[in-house]
Amino acid sequence: MCGIVGYAGGKDAAGILLEGLSKLEYRGYDSAGLAVRDGSGPVSVCKTKGRLSRLYEKTEGGKTMPGHIGIGHTRWATHGEPSEDNAHPHVSDDGLVTGVHNGIIENYLELKDKLIRKGYCFYSATDTEVAVKMVDYYYKKYGLGPIDAIAKTMVRMRGSYAMGLMFSDYPDEIWAVRKDSPLIIGVKDGETFIASDVPAILKYTKKVYYIGNLEFARIRPGEVTFYDLNGEEIKIEPTEITWSADAAEKDGYEHFMMKEIHEQPRAVKDTLHSLIAKDSDRSFIDLSKTGLTDETIRSLEGITICACGSAWHVGMSAQYVIEDLARIPVRVELASEFRYRKPILGKGQLVIVISQSGETADSLAALRLAKESGTETLGVVNVVGSAIAREADHVLYTLAGPEIAVATTKAYSTQLAALYALAVKAGHVRGVISEEQYQYYLDELQKLPDAIQTALSRKEDIQRFAAEHVATKDVFFIGRNIDYTSALEGSLKMKEISYVHSEAYAAGELKHGTISLVEDGTPVIGILTQPDLYEKTLSNMVECKARGGYLVAVTTEDRQDILNTADFVLFIPKTDPHFTASVTVVPQQLLGYYMSCSRGLDVDKPRNLAKSVTVE
Ligand code: F6R
Repeated sequence: MCGIVGYAGGKDAAGILLEGLSKLEYRGYDSAGLAVRDGSGPVSVCKTKGRLSRLYEKTEGGKTMPGHIGIGHTRWATHGEPSEDNAHPHVSDDGLVTGVHNGIIENYLELKDKLIRKGYCFYSATDTEVAVKMVDYYYKKYGLGPIDAIAKTMVRMRGSYAMGLMFSDYPDEIWAVRKDSPLIIGVKDGETFIASDVPAILKYTKKVYYIGNLEFARIRPGEVTFYDLNGEEIKIEPTEITWSADAAEKDGYEHFMMKEIHEQPRAVKDTLHSLIAKDSDRSFIDLSKTGLTDETIRSLEGITICACGSAWHVGMSAQYVIEDLARIPVRVELASEFRYRKPILGKGQLVIVISQSGETADSLAALRLAKESGTETLGVVNVVGSAIAREADHVLYTLAGPEIAVATTKAYSTQLAALYALAVKAGHVRGVISEEQYQYYLDELQKLPDAIQTALSRKEDIQRFAAEHVATKDVFFIGRNIDYTSALEGSLKMKEISYVHSEAYAAGELKHGTISLVEDGTPVIGILTQPDLYEKTLSNMVECKARGGYLVAVTTEDRQDILNTADFVLFIPKTDPHFTASVTVVPQQLLGYYMSCSRGLDVDKPRNLAKSVTVE
């Protein structure tokens, strides 16, 4: 989704804004722009369609736009096609207000009509131009300055927005405005930054303010003042970011995705370490930081997991593990569907919302719906201070560090680890698993980072396979039980970055229709890690082979017999069957990655996709 940056300080703003925008490229965009102000001179605006490099060239790396304050934007089109006119910043008719925006103003047509009646003209198809001109309208109508104009506009606008604004009458300041879209403010001596996400400002400061919902801020060099919707000054405490600036760099890898795939052993280890403690003679899972008590876990009658995309796949895996280890009924819901249902929730239920960014609009709406019903909520979140982290009753942080590639890898793996820990803990406190089994599962969990590392070491075979199958048009991923949930993720990894059509099926379901699509040479990737279901999935694979399918198997090292059936085998280390999704995902991530590279695609920024989906 769109990326916003802003700067107020003593340095050249344009260069800093361009650099900040480059760190937000992963969010997805189709045009970009800057607005910079030099003292009390006019605001200069430059916009381009396409990649940020074009804006860089057009402004000679920012040199043609001198000035010490400014705002910048990468746009992911929602209202109006990608074009220079629709690109942000947008400017009011006489240049009084300049603004950038992320989100959707749902009632923009109604507001636009009102403004047209008042004599305003519009040059773009965007809702953002309407928002900027609304601010201009209230500024001029009441003559009470930016605080009043912004607050009145916020009251009128419906939808979601993070905005950066500049007023020509106030040359030394920019404004940050927020409702339901991410926006953070970073401060260091004599300089203040705004950004949609931490990586854009990590190089400059780790002191960050999370601006609240329906709040806004005046930003001056080195200072920030916050206001509520009534225009009253409010106090917000800063947070110290723990991510290192290097964490948002490629570190010698060709792509962020490959770097992040390799970070998985470390990320899973860190996440598990944060949840597993030791006293003198035993290990135990400590969820005290989340505030989720043993008593709550004991009294649970049901769990609903809500998430989107890969995070939903994590929920699907967790469903099998929690139901088996803790005997709690679990439903897994796509957040975008859940939010428009009338779910039966309440006492005795727990709603778990899984989200890397903590800002996904549908997941956030699902969380709010659960809270409205009085149900206890737990957010499993990676980004500290994000909306879901702030609003959930309990938060379990995954320690993946910043994830930049659009396709998730390490966040997915840490989410799985966190949910496994929850399942084992719940099984133990509810008396479903004995102390001995508890210690066994804890041991098995702690072996996962090494197992993931071993799975990573086999990437050359996968690279070769991808190069040989570069012309493949369709791929099927199949599995049963937890392997099915892993197939869902493998299939998404394949299609989202390599644009090869792929589908994931529960292996037993394939012959109820989809098998008719299997043709000569169609790769059918079977995941086989569940001992009781191995032969059944294998039979389903053989059925595909009989129809010309090219069989790829992802299975454990002890299953050497598979070499008699499959055309290509990816062996992975054996782990407890509950936790295999953590390991089977690795070759599937690599397969998607190498397929994308073989096809010459932009692995980290696949077409049409955005990292953080902050609109419905
Ligand atoms: C796929 C992917 C997405 C996200 C989904 C949810 O590789 O990354 O499917 O998993 O958009 O995002 P978060 O976890 O930020 O809520």
